[in-house]
Amino acid sequence: MGMKVGAYFLYSSAEARTGLWRRVLALFGASCLVATVWAQAPSPGTARAPDVPYQPTEMKVVQVMLQLGRVKAGDVVYDLGCGDGRIVIAAVRDRGARGVCVDIDPQRIAEAQDNARRAGVADRIRFLTQDLFETDISQASAVMLFLWPDVNLALRPKLLRELRPGARVVSHMHDMGEWKPQKTAWVSASDRERVVYLWTIPRPARRR
Ligand SMILES: C[S@@+](CC[C@H](N)C(=O)[O-])C[C@H]1O[C@@H](n2cnc3c(N)ncnc32)[C@H](O)[C@@H]1O
Repeated sequence: MGMKVGAYFLYSSAEARTGLWRRVLALFGASCLVATVWAQAPSPGTARAPDVPYQPTEMKVVQVMLQLGRVKAGDVVYDLGCGDGRIVIAAVRDRGARGVCVDIDPQRIAEAQDNARRAGVADRIRFLTQDLFETDISQASAVMLFLWPDVNLALRPKLLRELRPGARVVSHMHDMGEWKPQKTAWVSASDRERVVYLWTIPRPARRR
């Protein structure tokens, strides 16, 4: 504890060092928080607040998503909420598919276009700055998702209504409630174990 002298506290050098460290740590914590919120904030020009903040899927998990979805040449792969476009870019570059990147945040779409150009696949991908709930997904043969549980549930009727029988839906991390996945894969990513789910759109009579 410091000793009060007039209007001031005198601290021993050990106390001063502890106090200084506390302030440095508090400042570091606050800047991390600001950086996180800043990184997740939608960029100017975004039509409305995104339903899910941006967080990229680790490439190791992307490869499992494409594998589980059996993505191949001839497929049209949509990523609803595509972020920097990594899933669609990998589908086109590594598996010969075509793709559609959809994101509500124009900054993400600009990044995806830039990344696709650098990967030499921009001419095989369409880029839509759009709310995924308004996107026409009827031409998709595979849909990739990394959203949130409630967004998956809200999207489920649209997937079942608009996609053709046999189209695959692959979701990183979140399931579809009572629509049980056909397959599940676990991937140990750099932060923790990640789950990837696969569904196939059934014929109309069996749709929910
Ligand atoms: C968790 S990130 C996933 C990014 C990418 N799919 C991946 O796995 O690397 C979710 C993305 O969805 C976008 N997003 C959120 N709500 C959306 C909406 N209603 N319509 C379109 N995109 C949306 C965000 O801008 C963000 O880029």
